[in-house]
Amino acid sequence: MTKQSKEELERQLAYLEKAKTLVAEKKEKLGRNLKACVVTFGCQMNAKDSEKLSGILQEAGFELTESEEADFVIYNTCTVRDNANQHVYGRLGVLNGHKKKNPEMKIALCGCMMQEPSVIEKIKKSYRFVDLVFGTHNLYRFPEYLCQVMEADGMIIDIWQETDRIVEDLPASRKYSFKSGVNIMFGCNNFCTYCIVPYVRGRERSREPKEIIREMEELAAAGVKEVMLLGQNVNSYGKNLEEPFTFAQLLQEAEKVEGIERIRFMTPHPKDFSEDVLDVIASSKKICKHIHLPLQSGSTEILKKMNRRYTKEQFLDLALHIREVLPDAAITTDIIVGFPGETDADVDDTIDVVRKVHFDNAFTFIYSPRTGTPAASMEQVGDEDAHRNFNRLLKAVQEEARGRVKLVEGKILPALVEEVNESQAGFVTGRLENNTLVHFPGDPSLVGQIVNVHLTDYQGFYYIGKQV
Ligand code: SAH
Ligand code: SF4
Ligand code: F3S
Repeated sequence: MTKQSKEELERQLAYLEKAKTLVAEKKEKLGRNLKACVVTFGCQMNAKDSEKLSGILQEAGFELTESEEADFVIYNTCTVRDNANQHVYGRLGVLNGHKKKNPEMKIALCGCMMQEPSVIEKIKKSYRFVDLVFGTHNLYRFPEYLCQVMEADGMIIDIWQETDRIVEDLPASRKYSFKSGVNIMFGCNNFCTYCIVPYVRGRERSREPKEIIREMEELAAAGVKEVMLLGQNVNSYGKNLEEPFTFAQLLQEAEKVEGIERIRFMTPHPKDFSEDVLDVIASSKKICKHIHLPLQSGSTEILKKMNRRYTKEQFLDLALHIREVLPDAAITTDIIVGFPGETDADVDDTIDVVRKVHFDNAFTFIYSPRTGTPAASMEQVGDEDAHRNFNRLLKAVQEEARGRVKLVEGKILPALVEEVNESQAGFVTGRLENNTLVHFPGDPSLVGQIVNVHLTDYQGFYYIGKQV
């Protein structure tokens, strides 16, 4: 950490102490506990940020709850597609209803959506009951904002355009005891033309390898078995460090952390996927054989308009090469349908890639224009065409996924048990290395353990099994 980052950490820890006093005083005054609720929208990065928010709230003395009828509610928002935004506005209305019943209640908004000026305008105008708004670059100032919001009335808004600072070591409250995300880099420099992430998360910044490894060691000491290394373009990890370090090197260091048994990463960009990373994965005992490799489109022309910087053929070469080097690995992907100018023939190309790669799973999205991105001002395609093509694609994706998942039928494979199965009494749910889920009879004490499971019953996208 730089000297400035250390100073900032100390400042925020001092605010956290102050927040503790403020919360304690309020509890005393009201004669009851104070409850806080953190609601997360969006990706794994946001989930990780939410753990930091929860940790700070807990440390300050709030009792964490899942219920939004709480004394402090914070929405950590996403703006990657418009439906995420609409969802937030809809739920804010409900929150206002809760607030009218509880005069102590404070409402806060943070995350990617808050980096958009139009959103801030709308909140200022139509959502006056919101107490605190901050963005992605200043999340580490949450202890300070928390103090401000507890001491004063009126809306506090603080949005930064950029930051070069990475502040480590604020408290975090992890959602799972046995698995955790670990940020390796923040931001993105790729500017795919449909995507708002570079605008709301800023430029690419990598964490120091030693900080990442130290966090992994601490997690291992706390009982974590699986980590997910997080970044928007993990293959370009380390390029902007003072002493450059590659993603392959980072994976090798991560492998050495005792107690960590599984390592995952998200997301690599096909244009930067290098052979040294594949070599490390192939010889690793801990890196899960699962590569999430976003295709976005199988049409070279659309890929060009998306600024993805690879062609259909280059993607196919890479994916089929991965199949060769890592035959057991699952390859999953993200695909967008309805990008400006996309024709049925372009979607045929996408389906062709799906058929040739046999993706183990794919997240398919209908293109959503994002204000300020280049694609938003290109000529849009009609909703009807987009939906029709979406359904065609989904059918191909599902057929291929079923075929891939079936390949391990009858095998005995290790699964990390993640939870008690809610819908079937006496069952737990585990995740295989290749990300497939298996439900099997077992008691709650298995949660967090890696056990061998016989995959007896193939169910399309998941398995029913038996512990052996
Ligand atoms: N950094 C990752 C993806 C981050 S966003 C990558 O490069 O793959 C997650 C997914 O959301 C993307 O892969 C893309 O498929 C989808 N997405 C992003 N912007 C979108 C938009 N404007 N409309 C629809 N889907 C979008
Ligand atoms: Fe968005 Fe592209 Fe960056 Fe992924 S790589 S976050 S899709 S700009
Ligand atoms: Fe959404 Fe921000 Fe993640 S826009 S997908 S929460 S980086």
